[in-house]
Amino acid sequence: MTPLVDVRDLRVRYGRYEAVKGVSFTLGRGEILGIVGESGSGKSTIAKTLIGLQKASGGTVTNRARATQMIFQDAVGSLNPRMTVRQTLAEVLAHARGRRGRTDERGGKGADMERLLALVGLSAAVLEQYPREMSGGQCQRVSIARALACRPEVLIADEPVSALDVSVQARVLNLLRDLRRDLGLSILLIAHDLAVVKNVCDRICVMERGVFVDAGAAEQVFAHPTSDYTRRLLAAVPDVERALALS
Ligand SMILES: Nc1ncnc2c1ncn2[C@@H]1O[C@H](COP(=O)(O)OP(=O)(O)OP(=O)(O)O)[C@@H](O)[C@H]1O
Ligand SMILES: [Mg+2]
Repeated sequence: MTPLVDVRDLRVRYGRYEAVKGVSFTLGRGEILGIVGESGSGKSTIAKTLIGLQKASGGTVTNRARATQMIFQDAVGSLNPRMTVRQTLAEVLAHARGRRGRTDERGGKGADMERLLALVGLSAAVLEQYPREMSGGQCQRVSIARALACRPEVLIADEPVSALDVSVQARVLNLLRDLRRDLGLSILLIAHDLAVVKNVCDRICVMERGVFVDAGAAEQVFAHPTSDYTRRLLAAVPDVERALALS
């Protein structure tokens, strides 16, 4: 089947520094692909290039999705501090409705907002709250809801849980899995530790200094890592994973 996103030999430079040195991957419909690597390896650069925030200096990016949205590591910071959840969601829903050219307002607004809240497991009680009044996990759910307003086919999640407590991490990761199941969403999940992606991703790419040093089905990368770098990342997994399993 034709993948939704097809990236071939992607290269990205910042001036003379090449942050991404020729990476290739595909994202299929309804698939969750993990990109894992330590700080500075080039993960966010790939994400930014996919949504057009950064220009590629080589290779090709083919994105066949109707809409692609991105959510960020700093959920609290990515929300407007002066807007309640209701205002934040109303704004993106109005924009999404405009793009769909829908004129029928009957039952539209309220129903859409309830649908978004339900999708991310939030109750209507948060609607009048400001970001500073919510937990990090709640803020991340709001930013996911905001991303879903335009009914994207592809969601890019750039370290969506690194700022969250471990127990909350597991719940947000489960939410991503539910969204894939319920909406058929394709997800690119970026993380710096393997524990985060292990139980969520179908396939994993391990990135080191601008290149992929391991790639394959999640179980395969865990069971048979081919690079020392992946083995080092794996060695750091157990503690976090135990905490995730307990939550
Ligand atoms: N706008 C920029 N200008 C110059 N260099 C940049 C810019 N953005 C990123 N870089 C450099 O490119 C490299 C890759 O950065 P990138 O943000 O993609 O890494 P990352 O894997 O997302 O890291 P982290 O885990 O810290 O988020 C780093 O060395 C970084 O310093
Ligand atoms: Mg990053």
